Amino acid sequence: MPMLIDLLKALADPCRLRLVAVLLRGEFTVQELTRILGMGQSRISRHLKILTEAGVLSVKRQGTWSYYGAGEENAFFGAIRPAFERELEQLPERREDLAALALALEERRRRNLEFFDRHARQWDSLSRTLLPVPDYLEHLLALVPSVATLLEIGVGTGALLPDLARRAARVIGVDHSPAMLDEARRRLAAGGETGIELRLGEMSHLPLPDGGAGCVVANMVLHHAADPLAVLHEISRVLQPDGSLILADLARHEREWAREQLADQWLGFEEDELQGWLTAAGLGSFEVQRLGAAVGQEEVLLVRAMRMKPLR
Ligand SMILES: C[S@@+](CC[C@H](N)C(=O)[O-])C[C@H]1O[C@@H](n2cnc3c(N)ncnc32)[C@H](O)[C@@H]1O
Repeated sequence: MPMLIDLLKALADPCRLRLVAVLLRGEFTVQELTRILGMGQSRISRHLKILTEAGVLSVKRQGTWSYYGAGEENAFFGAIRPAFERELEQLPERREDLAALALALEERRRRNLEFFDRHARQWDSLSRTLLPVPDYLEHLLALVPSVATLLEIGVGTGALLPDLARRAARVIGVDHSPAMLDEARRRLAAGGETGIELRLGEMSHLPLPDGGAGCVVANMVLHHAADPLAVLHEISRVLQPDGSLILADLARHEREWAREQLADQWLGFEEDELQGWLTAAGLGSFEVQRLGAAVGQEEVLLVRAMRMKPLR
């Protein structure tokens, strides 16, 4: 009973309802929340503390940054969440809050795009020297099935494309940075590779129809996503039923400078965090490998997941 009273008290405040409504849509830092809700930092922090203690929100630490999002500890809140979320849509400030939330995500994307457009020429050497990882590409390629259409998102300078082209009749590479795509084009031309399509596009709005790909490859790109769950939903949309996602990304690490020097939005991921998002996005039958790191390297998570058939 005390837990229930604490929960109801925590929710009984108009500002906290707005905060919950925003954080049920994504994970944000206190700084971002002050901008989204137009409130001072100490006020936001006080409300976050009350909501976190009641189990409505949870906090994810990434180096010195903290991201707040929906919590899962309060089972009763979990049970009422769908009805509660619908009710939150009626908040008087809802439209402005959603617009401000979209702006905050857009700001994350803009920072990333500017970075890659500025560093496209040096990217290959920059990434290799700054953040070494174990050799995992052979393991990744071994998971890629033979399919009619394969999509690689965040192709960057296109290092994987020639190998992927040997596993699919048609390969499409998408990236949001025109400068990175120029580098990829240069690489393909130098290698005499023809027939690989490169498209300028945003990974949370992929330029492909529903079910348009038999396999999606996302190599070292999810940690750049403004909203990883939205990207996984989008991947799920473009995958045909039983199609596979092959994803490689960094395991959680503490190299905080990677935000500035490599435009990383997230300092890697936890396995259970990734699996929760994959499930929410309609992907299943996961296989997760954790590829160990030598001294000075970071571990890599290699994931294969399948697009589940919709339930009838
Ligand atoms: C770390 S590089 C990885 C490149 C390639 N996958 C590889 O491993 O060599 C990340 C790439 O993702 C692209 N990217 C980042 N955010 C993106 C987004 N929102 N939509 C599309 N591409 C994005 C960047 O422009 C960059 O080329």
